[in-house]
Amino acid sequence: FSLKHLNTFGIDARAQHYLRVTDEGQLRAVLADPALAALPRLVLGGGSNLLLTGDFPGLVLHIALEGKEVLSSDGQHHYVRAAAGENWHAFVQWTLAQGLGGLENLSLIPGTVGAAPIQNIGAYGAETKDVFHSLRAFDTTSGEIVTLDSAACRFAYRDSIFKMAEGKQLIILEVSFALPKAWQPNLRYAELATAVQQQGWTAPTPQQVADTVIAIRRRKLPDPAEIGNAGSFFKNPLVPGEQCARLLAQFPELVHHRQADGSEKLAAGWLIDQCGWKGKSLGRAGVYPKQALVLVNNGGATGAEVQALAAAIQADVQARYGVRLEPEPVFV
Ligand code: EPU
Repeated sequence: FSLKHLNTFGIDARAQHYLRVTDEGQLRAVLADPALAALPRLVLGGGSNLLLTGDFPGLVLHIALEGKEVLSSDGQHHYVRAAAGENWHAFVQWTLAQGLGGLENLSLIPGTVGAAPIQNIGAYGAETKDVFHSLRAFDTTSGEIVTLDSAACRFAYRDSIFKMAEGKQLIILEVSFALPKAWQPNLRYAELATAVQQQGWTAPTPQQVADTVIAIRRRKLPDPAEIGNAGSFFKNPLVPGEQCARLLAQFPELVHHRQADGSEKLAAGWLIDQCGWKGKSLGRAGVYPKQALVLVNNGGATGAEVQALAAAIQADVQARYGVRLEPEPVFV
């Protein structure tokens, strides 16, 4: 079964077995079938945070569970819920159409609702964890359905329990969000604040903030429907404050953001750009000309070609800055 159209990098890899999951009962059926249960499993949502480095010798579970609803509200929040297979951006737009703000900064992020908590997707000063309420997941070890609140998900920058050994057996089924009744625009990200101001909006609506985010993303990031990619290919590295100070002495232009714990988050895109990689290619894999943090498939690239490009970039950044770049997508 070809996975080419199920990963946004557009890598042409194959899976031994494939199951499109539209009903929770199918997951129980997989566990109940000894032949299927014994296979290595790959849980796939929108395939937008994934690098397929070869064929998958096992069972791909493509989570296509559908449904979304406004649940209830209390003094402070409106609660909404969506099934894991819903497209993230369509869900965000749907909440805005209901008159509910809170997810607008996360507009146009590729992928599904079920994938959002896994890497705690974030952009323009917001993260999933800021509006997350709880989720239901299928535990493939016990066969039970479990509910996790925000603390249980152990959210951190592009990280959660679902990326750790303790959470690997969980398949997210649906996610609930708590959207603030007393909505305020989140314009902490300077580029977003400037773009909103330039429109002359002093009190922007959630939809206006969303439209601004969409315009910024369209300017900088390639549309996976046109150019294969998985968004930022590396995380922005966190380094100790002292290391950042040493780097700044040598590279005064270094882009860095101080964290609450005193560590510093460096802009990986800047580091890669400074190493001269922006717009360059290695084989059929390349660095996007408008944003050095995004690796692209220039057409027909294999996962190995993308990996080779990523390794060359990592080696250069390590040699020049002594900083290790960690990939953001999952390698399969
Ligand atoms: N920069 C360069 N050259 C480049 C790219 C960036 O010098 O080619 C510099 C920029 O000038 C800026 C800094 O690096 O000073 C940061 O760049 P930008 O604002 O574009 O954001 P980013 O750090 O590259 C992160 C997220 C994005 C998210 C944006 C906006 C990560 C790994 N990436 O990118 O998330 O959309 O901020 O919040 O945290 C994703 O995770 O897939 C993703 C796209």
